[in-house]
Amino acid sequence: MTRRILVTSALPYANGPIHIGHLVEYIQTDIWVRFQKLRGNRCIYVCADDTHGTAIMIRARKEGRSEEALIAAMSESHQRDFDGFGIQFDNYGSTHSDENRTICAKIWQSLRDKDLIAERPVEQLYDPEAETFLADRFVRGTCPKCGRTDQPGDNCVCGHTYSPTDLIDPKSTLSGATPILRESTHLFVELEKLHGFLADWIDTSDALQSETANYLKGHFLANELRDWDISRPGPYFGFEIPDSPGNFWYVWFDAPIGYIASTQQWCDSNGEKLEDWWNSDSCEIHHFIGKDITYFHTLFWPGMLESAGFRLPTKVRIHGFLTVAGEKMSKSTGTLVSAETYLKYSNPSYLRYFYATKLTPRVEDLDLGIDEFTEKVNSDLVGKVVNLASRVGKFASTTGLSKQYPDDGGLFAAAAKAGDEIAAAYEACDFSRAMRRIMELADAANPFVEHAKPWEMKKDAERQGELQDVCTVALNLFRQLAIYIAPVLPDLAKQCGDLLGSPITSWDQSKTPLVGIPVAKFQRMMDRVQSKDLKKMIDESKELAAADAAQDNASPTNDAAFNDSDQPLKDEPIADEISIDEFAKVDLRVARVVSAEHVPEANKLLKLTLSLGGDERRQVFAGIKAAYDPEKLVGRLVVMAANLKPRKMRFGLSEGMVTAAGPGGEEVFILGVDEGAQPGQRVH
Ligand code: 2FM
Ligand code: ZN
Repeated sequence: MTRRILVTSALPYANGPIHIGHLVEYIQTDIWVRFQKLRGNRCIYVCADDTHGTAIMIRARKEGRSEEALIAAMSESHQRDFDGFGIQFDNYGSTHSDENRTICAKIWQSLRDKDLIAERPVEQLYDPEAETFLADRFVRGTCPKCGRTDQPGDNCVCGHTYSPTDLIDPKSTLSGATPILRESTHLFVELEKLHGFLADWIDTSDALQSETANYLKGHFLANELRDWDISRPGPYFGFEIPDSPGNFWYVWFDAPIGYIASTQQWCDSNGEKLEDWWNSDSCEIHHFIGKDITYFHTLFWPGMLESAGFRLPTKVRIHGFLTVAGEKMSKSTGTLVSAETYLKYSNPSYLRYFYATKLTPRVEDLDLGIDEFTEKVNSDLVGKVVNLASRVGKFASTTGLSKQYPDDGGLFAAAAKAGDEIAAAYEACDFSRAMRRIMELADAANPFVEHAKPWEMKKDAERQGELQDVCTVALNLFRQLAIYIAPVLPDLAKQCGDLLGSPITSWDQSKTPLVGIPVAKFQRMMDRVQSKDLKKMIDESKELAAADAAQDNASPTNDAAFNDSDQPLKDEPIADEISIDEFAKVDLRVARVVSAEHVPEANKLLKLTLSLGGDERRQVFAGIKAAYDPEKLVGRLVVMAANLKPRKMRFGLSEGMVTAAGPGGEEVFILGVDEGAQPGQRVH
């Protein structure tokens, strides 16, 4: 039965370019959507730019243009980047659209009607020069606890947390002015009134991965749900609340409603009805998001949808973050590569394939290592998949395909059978499994050509029939691979379609071989990754970051905060669930602190030398500076994780980790060990 499926990715903020971290999600979603379309389902993929909030307003002011001009330029650049990576939306809208304003107003009215809105005064810092209220991170000052200067509005490097009003000598990062306290009315959604509904939905709907459901139950549903502050006083770039003049909906209110507004635009251009997608049980809705915005999509969003009579998501599919070479992406090391820079030096298909090999249905971070990237593309895509076609391609344009499919020892039939398993892996978002299975098929197909040696047949006039058969088998096996991998590599699927004069349009084409047709002149399909290109890409990213930083320093109003969203309240990351066997792999050992010293360049670290008995010593950097005086640690027994892969840090190699617990800062407590224990002894 044909399914009707509406798919969304998180709406990118209009205050920064798309980078390879964002692309994890858009590539993941695009692969899933292309898979659904190839299976014959009716699937639409909508997205939009997320355009509202203080960050946009301030940036537009600084750049001397209107917010509308800024967001139009940003939308164009985002869409160009997505297009460059083959990400195909059915509609790409903007949260600053008439459709969005109208739907926001309807949902707002429903919340009012259901008595879910409360009003109360809130005191907030206000910048009298920039004439705007200030989010915490737009304020810096001296820490009331340790006296360090130039600390952010909510916490200090000493680990102390406070409210911006506690800072000594606070300054607005927007204008340098001293902020004043000003009271204004804010509107709140009383989420607690939806507690029962949300708890029930999370328990019964099957919309969430189990680790997400557990996280929500443990972190939020175990307690009363806090009211959600949903308005901001003007000036604010957004929609003014119709029944509360001077107040605007907070960006996170209208952002997810942008999913509906973008669908509305698609419906209007395609003669469809919105209610068939957002109010119908016969349609599925799948949201793809990153783990940092879980809270909004699994509590606020279902709460709003339910209250306003829209259907609830079928699945909220949450992915982890991208790390590069095991580290967070960073501008200074050039690993925060923009989509635009990537496209200058590398092929988008490589990244699509690489991410596909890494993506699973779990909320796991995925790592991009340059060597692994090069190896996977060169050995899998070029060496196995494309190779199959290129070894026979130039002969096949003269032979064409045989009239009957020859005996291939069961290869075609086996690959046709594998289609169901590969499809199930795609459906479950287990792209990593799907890619592994496809590569196994490629591994089985290549030896056929190697043994047949078509290049020898070519030289023998009497073996042209055999040559045609080999070409027929190899190209049909290649076509099966191209069909299965088409959601990931649409360009390769197109090249395959052009070669055989038969476009790839459906998954089931993998079940029937092509015979008796001519083959077009073979065109080179894909080149190997060149390390020198990747190096250039990283170097250019570093240079661009340095140029940006120089500009930031030159401008008093351009703070690091501009690179952030207008949303200070991101989720804590969800820890991935691990099995007891995985936990048992951690080699916990008693160790004695032999020496402990400050690392002058690091704000939070102490450098420890630990003895594991005998001569075995480990150097460990531990983030416990605020909690422990180094001298007092010497001689103490601690528990360390002794088999962690050593990590290169700026200050040296860290060869393990000391176990500790506590909320952070000064309140970190190293786990105690009985003095009778022996260094090196295992802890069970
Ligand atoms: O975190 C972000 O980048 C947000 N712009 C995502 C919004 S998703 C949705 F709710 F609109
Ligand atoms: Zn401090």
